Amino acid sequence: MEKKITVLPGDGIGPEVVAQGVKVIEAINHLFDHKFHLKEADFGAISIDKHGTPLTDSTLNSCLESDAVFLGAIGDPKFDNDPSLPVRPEQGLLKLRKSLELFSNVRPITTYSILNDVSPLKNHLLENVDMVIYRELTGGIYFGEKKKSEDGTSASDLCSYSDWEISRIAYQAFEAATNRRNKLTLVDKANVLETSRLWRKVVQEISQEYPKVTVDYLFVDNAAMQVMANPGQFDLILTENMFGDIISDLASVITGSLGMLPSASVGKKVAMFEPIHGSYPQAKGQDLANPMASILSVAMMYEHFGLFQEAEMIRNGVKWAMNNEVVTQDIAGDREPSTCSKVGDMIACYIEERGNVNIKSDTVRVSLNCII
Ligand code: IPM
Ligand code: MG
Repeated sequence: MEKKITVLPGDGIGPEVVAQGVKVIEAINHLFDHKFHLKEADFGAISIDKHGTPLTDSTLNSCLESDAVFLGAIGDPKFDNDPSLPVRPEQGLLKLRKSLELFSNVRPITTYSILNDVSPLKNHLLENVDMVIYRELTGGIYFGEKKKSEDGTSASDLCSYSDWEISRIAYQAFEAATNRRNKLTLVDKANVLETSRLWRKVVQEISQEYPKVTVDYLFVDNAAMQVMANPGQFDLILTENMFGDIISDLASVITGSLGMLPSASVGKKVAMFEPIHGSYPQAKGQDLANPMASILSVAMMYEHFGLFQEAEMIRNGVKWAMNNEVVTQDIAGDREPSTCSKVGDMIACYIEERGNVNIKSDTVRVSLNCII
């Protein structure tokens, strides 16, 4: 298969984790004889520093002309700590999501038994956890009108949704639920918000077309508690933009690290794949960030193109690395941590070698394609 991919390393640890994802794409290209052409572009704080804007026309056009976008992370504390700055990296991300019409952000929450000891949850709560969050990504309070009074003493952000914005992601979520365990939970705040009542109405109507799917409704505050207290009860969570942002970070705690969670954002044409974590500026350049979320986002990209064998191979590589203690410090527990680049090298090596890699203490079998 031949595809054009725009790679946006972004800020902080973004370039480090994206580099590991790129190794995996190259290994898959090699093994399966695909031609995924990669083109890098500036995005985020680095783009503000270089060009004065987080998303240049040239980067946006490159994304629009691609089949997919692979993003690292954006953000820099120098922008967070000064609320008066008019240009911020996040504006670029929101503009990109809107321009690519990426209305549906899919965030799977997976547990790995080998990580049970790094999850703060009790082990019995981790059994049977397999949920996915469908977060609406181009509407709601993120995109509503923003106002500040002239004297700067009051401000407002409008949260607004139209029925069609809800129904297009709701249909995707119901379809996905039918391929899973037929259970959909709408998370909202319908006891307070008009927009949430509209979500309930639209979802109730669509649910008539999916009689096999059981639909639950949960207020977001209760959902936050339930996701921690009994995560195994959830199959698919459907929710609006802001609630999805918060609930998905919370749910990552179940897995044991934010560094494990990938995501896919899909819309009309171009799709985007990115880890859900941020730019982790404290770790920038230290080669210690966990690249697995980034690598698993690459797996979601192959799945999006219908290349299931490739996706499976990558996921097996990630599991193999964990089982062989090739893990970064966030999930190492009392094991010796590996660097970000070593984890990437080993998973790429696993792929190149079709899984025939043996680790004996610190030595790896070395072949022509795979030198660690
Ligand atoms: C995410 C991030 C973004 C969001 C930020 C960086 C704007 O937290 O993708 O979850 O809030 O959507
Ligand atoms: Mg977030």
